[in-house]
Amino acid sequence: MIEVRQCRKSFGERLVLDGLQFAVEQGDTYGLLGPNGAGKTTAINILCNLLEADDGTVLINGSPVSEATKFTVGVVPQEISIYKDLTCRENMLFFGKVYGLRDPERTDRVNELVRIFHLEEYARTQVSKMSGGWQRRVNIAVALVHSPGVLILDEPTAGLDVEARYELWELIAGLQSRGVTILLTTHHLDEAERLCSRIGIMRGGRIVAEGSLDELRKLVPARQLAVVETGSEETLLARVSSLGWEHRRYGGRLTLLLPREFSLREIVETLDGVPLTSISLREVGLEHVYMEAGAGMN
Ligand SMILES: Nc1ncnc2c1ncn2[C@@H]1O[C@H](COP(=O)(O)OP(=O)(O)O)[C@@H](O)[C@H]1O
Ligand SMILES: [Mg+2]
Repeated sequence: MIEVRQCRKSFGERLVLDGLQFAVEQGDTYGLLGPNGAGKTTAINILCNLLEADDGTVLINGSPVSEATKFTVGVVPQEISIYKDLTCRENMLFFGKVYGLRDPERTDRVNELVRIFHLEEYARTQVSKMSGGWQRRVNIAVALVHSPGVLILDEPTAGLDVEARYELWELIAGLQSRGVTILLTTHHLDEAERLCSRIGIMRGGRIVAEGSLDELRKLVPARQLAVVETGSEETLLARVSSLGWEHRRYGGRLTLLLPREFSLREIVETLDGVPLTSISLREVGLEHVYMEAGAGMN
């Protein structure tokens, strides 16, 4: 549904996209993951025909991005982009008209979205009177009014509290089960881990690591991790090195890359004689892949 090849974009001297390349298959949820300033929104603006790439190929459902491909894409920008002084229903009807829907299809579609998004209670409420989470929900409903094949969500949960984030995750999961193809950007690792069937980690304007979560995990040379605190780092590192294990500092915490799975007892026995303050075993997660890909540093 989406194909981006060798896409480049500069703003003046600043090269923001430097050979960005990724593809999203029908029905997939693809997560573009990267720190602020990585170029995620720029990539989305190019996909929505709001910005032109300097170079490269950008296809939506096989066609180069144009005014016409806008009808295949629904986009929810980072900032709420619906009319706050209109009600939720008025917004949907208005944008339905913008996309050329006519009654009775337009009203039917709005009613359907009200149902899918559980907006019955709010349908006649002014958007400005709704919480941030519900405004985002309405914004997503509006983006789907013309039944696009692709939904693009730019940082869908930025600025939301934990509860509202979880509610939106559920809503997005519901859209996935309806077969909507989704491209989302996020700088929350847990969000990408939870929602995305494929993840592309962006750094320096391009994808530096890509795959399903399981594929990405393989980039960390470990079967399991042990996060350790010790009274003597020197002793610990000497032992770790004699065992042939690697170590990292993930978020400042000394972490051992274990070549196989260990039980807690086994690992404590293996490190016998090293003064340990605490030790905990962890699965390899996206956080570690992210650091391994060098994407944690800007
Ligand atoms: N219209 C613009 N003019 C100049 N610089 C821009 C413009 N839009 C974005 N940038 C710069 O491009 C970089 C990437 O921005 P953006 O795509 O918004 O990143 P992200 O969405 O990943 O946080 C940033 O350094 C930003 O300041
Ligand atoms: Mg952005």
